Amino acid sequence: MKKWFAVIGDPIAQSMSPGMHDIWFKENGLDATYVPIHAKRGQLEEIITSLRTLGCSGWNVTVPHKSDILTILSHVDEAAKHMEAVNTVTVGQDGELSGFNTDGIGFVAALEEQYGTHRKADEILIIGSGGAAKGIAFALYNSGYGPITFTNRTLANAQLVSDRLPGSSVLSIDEAQMNLSRFGIVVQTTSVGMAFADSGMPLNPSNVIPGTAVIDIIYNPIETQFLTVAKERGALISNGIGMFVHQGARSFEQWTGIYPDTAGMIDRLTQQLE
Ligand code: ATR
Repeated sequence: MKKWFAVIGDPIAQSMSPGMHDIWFKENGLDATYVPIHAKRGQLEEIITSLRTLGCSGWNVTVPHKSDILTILSHVDEAAKHMEAVNTVTVGQDGELSGFNTDGIGFVAALEEQYGTHRKADEILIIGSGGAAKGIAFALYNSGYGPITFTNRTLANAQLVSDRLPGSSVLSIDEAQMNLSRFGIVVQTTSVGMAFADSGMPLNPSNVIPGTAVIDIIYNPIETQFLTVAKERGALISNGIGMFVHQGARSFEQWTGIYPDTAGMIDRLTQQLE
């Protein structure tokens, strides 16, 4: 019987997950499909009841449900617990729901694919202190990466995140901007620069030194102003397509036991978004 999977969120129409997973099902000879489901905050429980009744085999969860879903699950992995956010749900044979967070580990996989594994001693600057920043920081820390500094428009939010991550610290945006040459890896996690969101840059990266790995987790547009300026200064830049594909690949693996082709998918989505 054909299996089916889903992504639940609001907004959801723009999601690239259905297209990506459908290609992977096809490439791996699996009789399955993946559909987007629009659910507003507060509708999560009723939607999940329907998914279960209709035999959905697993789903992704996106904004604004990543934290709300925690109370509905029987098990959650360590990353999801730490981040208080779930992006992947599996349905066990007994019907029990388990939650995982593949965002942070997806980021690390993309980072290592792009830059190799030799940057573990570099100092890391994370711009932003929301859910994405938390997940990325936790995964970098768990993977043995160097000291992490958070900077954020609202410094108190950066401090809250830093308080939960051993060895990390906080700088104001101005301080981070002035001290940018200290960092070998700079990660932009805010929504600034995203299509239809605030334009501009959360921090001016013109003080980066050549060779710095500068990653913006935004992929629409494919190159934010932040990345363009960093590139002009000699930084080695990447957008968020790698993280998106690798988090999806780990969800796919949870559901099917197969790790799909990520490199081909990154090329395909890059062409699509260009
Ligand atoms: P996500 O789950 O995508 O990380 P989030 O949890 O809402 O989303 O976090 C958004 C992040 O983007 C925060 O760090 C936020 O800064 P504040 O803590 O000051 O709110 C940052 N952010 C959003 N809009 C911003 C803007 N216009 N300028 C600077 N930072 C912004």
